[in-house]
Amino acid sequence: MATIIHVRKNGPYRLESDAEITVVDWEGKPYTFDRLPIALCRCGGSTKKPFCDGTHSKIGFQAAEAAIGPDAKDKPAP
Ligand code: FES
Repeated sequence: MATIIHVRKNGPYRLESDAEITVVDWEGKPYTFDRLPIALCRCGGSTKKPFCDGTHSKIGFQAAEAAIGPDAKDKPAP
């Protein structure tokens, strides 16, 4: 079983899994969704948080972070 979180360029976190995924709020109460993959808002603009509703495209969300590979000159802060 695997769960993969794709960080979409200038978009949401997209979760794929062949296992069950539960998204819970700060009180541990589960959100309901009926299919995978799901996309979680990363821009803060969604009206359906924590899920993405496509607003990131309308507001021109620009994300700067990317995975840093072992050969990269820039390294994450320790
Ligand atoms: S990332 Fe899509 S609405 Fe925020």
